[in-house]
Amino acid sequence: MDHEFVLILDFGGQYNQLIARRVRECNVYCEVKPYNKITLDEIRSLSPKGIIFTGGPQSVYGDGAPTVDKGIFELGVPVLGICYGSQLMAHVLGGRVQTCESSEYGKTETEFDTDCELFRIDGLGEKNTVWMSHTDYISDIPRGFKITAHTAHCPVAAMENAEKKLYAVQFHPEVNHTVHGTDMIYNFVRNICQCSGDWTMGNYAQTAIKQLREKIGSGKVLLALSGGVDSSVAAALLSKAVGSQLTCIFVDHGFMRKNEGDEVEAAFRDWDINFIRVNAKAQFMDKLRGVSEPETKRKIIGEEFIRVFERQAKKIGAVDYLAQGTIYPDVIESGSGDAAVIKSHHNVGGLPDYVDFKEIIEPLRMLFKDEVRKLGTELGLSDTLVWRQPFPGPGLAIRIIGEITDEGLEVLQDADLIFREEIAKAGFDRSINQYFAVLTNMRSVGVMGDFRTYDYTLALRAVTTTDFMTAEFARIPYEVLEVCASRIVNEVKNINRVVYDITTKPPATIEWE
Ligand code: XMP
Repeated sequence: MDHEFVLILDFGGQYNQLIARRVRECNVYCEVKPYNKITLDEIRSLSPKGIIFTGGPQSVYGDGAPTVDKGIFELGVPVLGICYGSQLMAHVLGGRVQTCESSEYGKTETEFDTDCELFRIDGLGEKNTVWMSHTDYISDIPRGFKITAHTAHCPVAAMENAEKKLYAVQFHPEVNHTVHGTDMIYNFVRNICQCSGDWTMGNYAQTAIKQLREKIGSGKVLLALSGGVDSSVAAALLSKAVGSQLTCIFVDHGFMRKNEGDEVEAAFRDWDINFIRVNAKAQFMDKLRGVSEPETKRKIIGEEFIRVFERQAKKIGAVDYLAQGTIYPDVIESGSGDAAVIKSHHNVGGLPDYVDFKEIIEPLRMLFKDEVRKLGTELGLSDTLVWRQPFPGPGLAIRIIGEITDEGLEVLQDADLIFREEIAKAGFDRSINQYFAVLTNMRSVGVMGDFRTYDYTLALRAVTTTDFMTAEFARIPYEVLEVCASRIVNEVKNINRVVYDITTKPPATIEWE
């Protein structure tokens, strides 16, 4: 490994990704590995500078409860156990874990021993708020340990064996509600594990470019470019590595936001790559004529996309590599669970069956979204591309309720542009994670001048979220909404009413279809 490295052993906790992101924020590279997919010898050979145990849903005494080889504590590598991880450390090293009479959940006042290296933080008083979520607790600490924090209901909110560099916290330092939580993680990885902080996107770019060059040699690479952050950054990185050996195909299905197709083309026109834009709107519209059912629309667009891409790829002939913009959260989550399909997602990835290639390369596979953005900036991509909000593969097609028409598309593009302009003007374009307009199929009566109108209702949707699995509606000031509504009904034809969607996800979803 080219970087200092912290291993995160995952015991099935819901915050595993968050822990990894916090460690990366401290400029330390880390990877999340399921506890049962790595042996002690493999851990040793990776030479981690530190190990973190995540939380998990089980009890250490439960049937088949996740555990670790006791030898992990003898590697001479600092270990931090979080929640279940802390109980596991206590249990394996001879302490005792018991079930609480009532679970401790939520923000909890905690008393700290601020002499403990983990808690030596400016501004961390002896009493602080932490985020708790547990049913079991450590009742007896193992020999050699001392208690370094407690709450009214939890006698061991933290413990340490400083000599062996073993630390455990019952609470979740990775959750924002834990005051100074990130500082605690910083103390662990930077001070206790003594990582120097060599993980920066500047360093990553250099290493990745070198590695991609070695791997690709004189081979040909094909990438489906959507104009989204991930595929754009992947294109930029590959372009720096292998230049014109890279061909990017941008399938413009005609459902991009206003001017967006041209913007994507303009952004990549001057790069040293082969850039192919396929204007396929007519084809997509043809297939979608008379179709109004959301899942059918999604399926048609996904399939047509693959067909258009495949036809282009055939013209290029065999390639050595198919590149994809997969990022780390997809890697961590892949293969986990049989969740019900709410919407069939269409992304520009996932095409391997249809294209003649030898291998897939995923140059962003180990990066989180915020790192991808930083890397994009490092590689010289514009802020417009790097800070682009997420945009669904099927584009505006799923933001027009019911059948898609040329007129509907034009109306939606115009209204959406006004909404985006006003959000940017009000300074919310980075703090609101996703915001867009939806053209409903509902008509209502209005009055314009002296005339009655009977026109369409446009909905505005804006959400704040960290993971897009749950979301809150954005608290946009009324004044800003008022300007949006007024501009939209005045400037966009066929709209006489604007509504703001104030549902959370769940029960609603972010997109309307
Ligand atoms: P929902 O509507 O399911 O959306 O709450 C969650 C997030 O996913 C995006 N989304 C998609 N992204 N292909 C994508 O790449 C799709 O087909 C797709 N459908 C929804 C949506 O914009 C939101 O960010």
